[in-house]
Amino acid sequence: MLAFHPLLSFLALFALTCAKESAWNGHVSPGSTTPAKFTPFYVPSGSKQIDSEDSSIHHSGSWKTVRSAGYINGSVLRTSERGAYATFSFNGTAIELYGSTGIRFGQASAFLDEDSAKTINNWSSQDRKQQLLFYSYGLKPTKHTLRIVNDGSISGSLLDIDAFVVTNPTARQTSKKREGKSPTIVAKPNKFVSRSKSSDWSLIQKGSTGVAAMQLAIISSSHAIIIDKVEHNPLSIDGHPAWGALYNLKTHAVKALRMKSNSFCAGGTFLSNGTLINVGGNPVVSDKTAAADFGDVDGLQAIRLFHPCDSESVTDCDVYENHARIRMASPRWYNTVLRLSDGSAMIIGGSKKGGWMNNATTNNPTVEYYPPKNIKGSNGLPVTLQFLKDTLNSNLFPIAFSLPNGRVFMAANQDATIYDWQADSETRLPQIPNGVRVTYPMTGTALLLPLSPENDYSPEILICGGSALDDTKPGYELNSQDPASKQCSRIILTDQGIAAGWQVEQMPQPRVMPDAVLLPTGQVFIINGGASGISGYANVIDQVGQSNADNPVLTPVLYDPSAPVGSRFSSVGMPTSNIPRLYHSVATLTPSGAIMIAGSNPNLDRSEERYGTEYRVEWINPPYMTQERPVIADPPQQFGFGKTVSLRIQWPANTGTTSGNIKVACMDLGYVTHAVHANSRLVYLSFKRDENDSNVLLVTAPPSGEVYPPGPAWLFVVVDGVPSEGKKVIIGDGNSPPVDDAALKNVLESTRVDQYEAEKGNKDESE
Ligand SMILES: *[C@@H]1O[C@H](CO)[C@@H](O)[C@H](O)[C@H]1NC(C)=O
Ligand SMILES: *[C@@H]1O[C@H](CO)[C@@H](O)[C@H](O)[C@H]1NC(C)=O
Ligand SMILES: *[C@@H]1O[C@H](CO)[C@@H](O)[C@H](O)[C@H]1NC(C)=O
Ligand SMILES: *[C@@H]1O[C@H](CO)[C@@H](O)[C@H](O)[C@H]1NC(C)=O
Ligand SMILES: *[C@@H]1O[C@H](CO)[C@@H](O)[C@H](O)[C@H]1NC(C)=O
Ligand SMILES: *[C@@H]1O[C@H](CO)[C@@H](O)[C@H](O)[C@H]1NC(C)=O
Repeated sequence: MLAFHPLLSFLALFALTCAKESAWNGHVSPGSTTPAKFTPFYVPSGSKQIDSEDSSIHHSGSWKTVRSAGYINGSVLRTSERGAYATFSFNGTAIELYGSTGIRFGQASAFLDEDSAKTINNWSSQDRKQQLLFYSYGLKPTKHTLRIVNDGSISGSLLDIDAFVVTNPTARQTSKKREGKSPTIVAKPNKFVSRSKSSDWSLIQKGSTGVAAMQLAIISSSHAIIIDKVEHNPLSIDGHPAWGALYNLKTHAVKALRMKSNSFCAGGTFLSNGTLINVGGNPVVSDKTAAADFGDVDGLQAIRLFHPCDSESVTDCDVYENHARIRMASPRWYNTVLRLSDGSAMIIGGSKKGGWMNNATTNNPTVEYYPPKNIKGSNGLPVTLQFLKDTLNSNLFPIAFSLPNGRVFMAANQDATIYDWQADSETRLPQIPNGVRVTYPMTGTALLLPLSPENDYSPEILICGGSALDDTKPGYELNSQDPASKQCSRIILTDQGIAAGWQVEQMPQPRVMPDAVLLPTGQVFIINGGASGISGYANVIDQVGQSNADNPVLTPVLYDPSAPVGSRFSSVGMPTSNIPRLYHSVATLTPSGAIMIAGSNPNLDRSEERYGTEYRVEWINPPYMTQERPVIADPPQQFGFGKTVSLRIQWPANTGTTSGNIKVACMDLGYVTHAVHANSRLVYLSFKRDENDSNVLLVTAPPSGEVYPPGPAWLFVVVDGVPSEGKKVIIGDGNSPPVDDAALKNVLESTRVDQYEAEKGNKDESE
């Protein structure tokens, strides 16, 4: 984490020395004394810059070169003539145009390969240089032509071309370090047990996330929220790159979010009233990446609120942060956030500052709550959890699930426990077998398997992938080619199940940092990750670019938890992607039933070298997407515990209304980051057919907050293995979780906003 690319230091220096303007739109970071004018101009490693004076830029009409130290390489190409244009041809997969914005600047049109124009409107009330005016990523690796025409309309008439940045595909596919070396592991699809008849899973690549998709959650039937760290993303807001976005699942449009603090490696959950909280993060990264200039503030104690946003127009939806009023009591980086049976959030573990592998100095071996709680006199302050001390070093982003008895299952490193948070007591579980570690950076993925009334909501945990490497070894003794684990471990959390211990199975391929996505059918879709190495970047030897992992696994596998042992995994009919999805990649079920796959960025800042920063989105359509599907015609908005509602269903014509095998699934699609699918949950609901109307099911809500923590859910009706689209509903009364005013007051009075920054001053980092 804290190793920095020399090119970035150079760029930071470059930005400083070029900045002679007195106007300043940047931010003085803590500890930094030299204000600098911030400009988003950035050439990722693997891309190249073409300056405005380059002879490959052809122009027509009246253009002149304007010189100033504030421009990229000291000059821009400027026109004020309406209809004047410039053309630039390049061979590559991505193009960016940098120029000026301000009150004198007007509207222009960009034609890429003479496709229909994209409007560039860079009028702004503030004058800014070296701004990203236009970009297009994910192009075919061939020759393209970009034509920029000055429309000279709206308020201003000027157009500045300062530089182009082109990404060349050859740079992206080869890594100097790995040339000529054959990997020790080759992740080829194995022979699978073929029991699935389905042969038509399809893969579509469509859309671009604008910010790297490190964290992902579905917020409505039309949108997902994507949260990244502070870095040079193409999507911008207020004159700097954005690090949060709303992604339209239907139109693929992205809207930048206005975030205050650095959300690098935060966690999240919805609360009972539908507000999403995004918790923890990174301090401002000063001097090294110049990220301080993005205007971000310390995110280590941040709690960011995103209120429910169900309309398709997301114009008024944004992130709210006010650390003076809303914050954690302690700093956390790589914490897990879990919704509890009362609809509040438990914030678990993490590290007190950014780093790599956790250790006793950086560990934050506590849990705290939002809203804050008084647990046995804690009065809102963190409660120490021995489990988080005993699981060092590889214990960041702990795996956690709320259990149907209100307690919390946790797994970290090779260990597991059941935590009774009300009594603050633990019951340790057997160790995960065969020395497999399952949390960062030896990251595996985990799910709570479907709960159903038929087996009295008996909870069962599935954990897949990870690594059996020694987590006490320094980075220089770990290698990106060290094999990951193939192991999946399952345990039923009843007395009998615990006595029987973990049941072990092998995935067809090893995977570190896979994603496991629950489908409404009860099957588990496993995707993403690498067959070797570990999570993170810039730590181990034989890095690929900066990636600590290699040998991306490109074919997903379906796991059917209810099939007989030995025939649960299948990749029959599964598409193979050509996009590696390693560190900082995500996957989630979407309300339509398709699976959204995004991200991968094992880099300090945006890079175009293998394994580069990935903005392309992929969609996997399970076979049911093309079959005739049931439809939930009149979903309730809210569904109180134990209540029964009539659900009107349009049945698929071929199943009839009496013959089909019907299930009603109530799902939390989870908050996905770092292979942690926090809050992911599937509860099958009990129902009866309405004897008087064959198109109505009388469905009973989950019995309690223990079975489904109150908050947002998606209802799916599944007929003969074919699910409907999901409909959003609030389970419970939709009210705020309990608020303990005294505990809240105590947190604000007895802690400071940037505790770690303060601690650093005291040089007291000891536990
Ligand atoms: C721009 O300036 C930088 C720094 O002085 C230099 O390294 C680079 O070669 C120049 N690039 C072009 C395209 O002129
Ligand atoms: C310039 O205009 C385009 C199109 O309206 C927009 O996407 C881009 O963000 C603007 N750039 C800046 C720096 O405002
Ligand atoms: C574009 O670049 C690629 C990769 O370097 C190369 O294979 C291809 O021939 C080039 N195409 C053109 C039209 O120059
Ligand atoms: C603990 O981790 C931090 C952050 O990575 C590192 O700076 C420190 O040296 C480590 N301490 C020990 C004792 O390993
Ligand atoms: C069906 O209709 C009868 C007669 O109106 C009524 O008594 C009964 O309660 C209805 N059943 C259900 C499940 O609504
Ligand atoms: C939900 O509850 C939390 C905690 O009390 C509160 O901060 C938030 O504003 C509430 N959201 C809405 C939409 O009322």
